[in-house]
Amino acid sequence: MSILKVENLSKSFDGLRALKDITLSIKQGAIASIIGPNGAGKTTLFNCLTGFSKPSSGAVFYKGREITGMSPHKIAGIGIARTFQNIRLFGALSVIENMLIGCHISKGYGFFSALMRGRRFSSLEKSNFHRSMGILDMLELSKYAKHLASSLPYGLQRRLEIARAMAMNPKLLLLDEPSAGMNPSETLELMRQLIRLREEGVTLLIIEHDMTLVMGLSEQITVLNYGTKIAEGTPDQIRNNSEVIEAYLGSANGQF
Ligand SMILES: Nc1ncnc2c1ncn2[C@@H]1O[C@H](COP(=O)(O)OP(=O)(O)OP(=O)(O)O)[C@@H](O)[C@H]1O
Ligand SMILES: [Mg+2]
Repeated sequence: MSILKVENLSKSFDGLRALKDITLSIKQGAIASIIGPNGAGKTTLFNCLTGFSKPSSGAVFYKGREITGMSPHKIAGIGIARTFQNIRLFGALSVIENMLIGCHISKGYGFFSALMRGRRFSSLEKSNFHRSMGILDMLELSKYAKHLASSLPYGLQRRLEIARAMAMNPKLLLLDEPSAGMNPSETLELMRQLIRLREEGVTLLIIEHDMTLVMGLSEQITVLNYGTKIAEGTPDQIRNNSEVIEAYLGSANGQF
C-alpha cells in the first residue's frame, strides 16, 4: 500500500519550471530516496508535499486523502513531518524545549503558538516530556537534553532536527539532506538511527547527496534532473542507469 502519491505535480517560479509533471508513489514502511544534481528540484518537491510551496498543478495524496495546498501545520498534524536543508532549530532554547515544541505542532498548533506553549508548560507536560526523552534516546541525544541547541556540534544539531520532527509523531518523515556536513562515521551512525526510526513504523523519504547512505538504505530511488523524473528503481537499477550517470557527469562535481 502506498502512503504517499504524487500525481503530475508541476511547479514554476516566474517562468522557471522547477518541477515538471512529477508522478511518484511511496510504499508504506519503505525507506525511499530522491537524488539529483544541484537545482534538480528536490527541495521544491518537499516544499510542495509539506505545504511550504503551492504546486502550479497536480495533486498530492497522503493515505488516499488529497492534501494539495493544505497549510504546513495541518499537514504536520495529519502525520507528515520534515526537516530542512538548512538547520532550523531554536538555538537559544534547550534540546528538550525544541522537542516539546515538536510535540505541540503534532496537536495542530501553529508554529508560534507551539513555541509559546512549549516554553510555558514544559514542566507540567509529563507525557510529552517522556515521549521526547524516548525519541532523544533513540537518536542518542538524551544526555544533551538540557544543553542549548546552539551549543551542540553541527552533526548533533542535524540529528536534533530529526528528533524534533519525530516528536510530531509522524507516519511519514521527509529528510532534506540529513547527512550534509557530517563526516563518514557520523553518517554511518545516522544510517543506523534511520533504520531504527523505520523499525518504529515510520516511512522515510530522504533527499541526499551521500551515495553511501542512499545506496545503503533505500529500497526505492527516484532521480530528478532539471525538474524532471529521469529514473526510478532499486539502488542497483539506478547505479547502472545510463541517463542517471550522464546527468551526474554533466553536473558541477561530476559524481553522485
Ligand atoms: N522560491 C524560489 N523562487 C525562485 N526560484 C526557486 C525558488 N526555489 C527554488 N527555485 C529554483 O528552482 C530550482 C530547483 O531548486 P531546488 O532548491 O528545489 O533544487 P534542489 O534539487 O533541492 O538543489 P540542491 O541539491 O542544491 O539543494 C532551482 O533552479 C532554484 O533556483
Ligand atoms: Mg535542496
